[in-house]
Amino acid sequence: MPVPAPKPDILAAFEAAKGFMPVDEGLALYAAAVEAGRLGLPLLEVGTYCGRSTVLLADAARTAGVTVLTVDHHRGSEEQQPGWEYHDPETVDPEIGLMDTLPTFRRTLFRAGLEEQVVALVGRSPQIAAIWNSPLGFVFVDGGHTDEHAGADYEGWAPHVAEGGLLVVHDVFPEPEDEFTGQAPYRVYLRALGSGAFTEVSATGSLRVLRRTGAGI
Ligand SMILES: C[S@@+](CC[C@H](N)C(=O)[O-])C[C@H]1O[C@@H](n2cnc3c(N)ncnc32)[C@H](O)[C@@H]1O
Repeated sequence: MPVPAPKPDILAAFEAAKGFMPVDEGLALYAAAVEAGRLGLPLLEVGTYCGRSTVLLADAARTAGVTVLTVDHHRGSEEQQPGWEYHDPETVDPEIGLMDTLPTFRRTLFRAGLEEQVVALVGRSPQIAAIWNSPLGFVFVDGGHTDEHAGADYEGWAPHVAEGGLLVVHDVFPEPEDEFTGQAPYRVYLRALGSGAFTEVSATGSLRVLRRTGAGI
């Protein structure tokens, strides 16, 4: 079966959006989302930022007839704050002097014609996960990259991945010299594999796709 790929307009919207995901990882993310969409359950992303990866998930969800939920407090991760390497001054709300990526995210989705596929959950991931109680076909972990945040994302969202559903982790860097924001996502990936509940499906760049093949986390 051919690997599902986004149409050129969707790929162009992805490439035009602010964000950090390279194209090869985006294509792997898209293919995984299309596959998981066949379960007929919502797809969930932790770490919306300006909507770069959300565009791909939303198009995959449209194909499958499901909804994407995307979680972010929109105040940026540690490494995106002023003075840090991944800071973009355009993401700061001049009125309050704090990052606010929500307006840019909304423009990204609007321009891609994908607003109807996406529900944005604006808040802290563990707080939302604590009140979440329904199965998901796909969970993409790309939020905070500290052990505290990445670990909480795994604990909060991985339990909701349905049997046969996919858990996707971004920025997995097994070699310390390759990492740029810490190795917490790598530790989440190892934890998921070590749980016996998830089996690796594919690795593309720093993106790891795992499938739920057992119970628990
Ligand atoms: C690496 S960026 C996401 C990049 C995005 N997926 C893309 O492809 O462009 C991480 C995002 O996670 C968000 N974030 C970090 N910790 C969070 C938390 N505890 N709850 C909600 N959002 C969080 C930040 O605000 C930031 O926008």
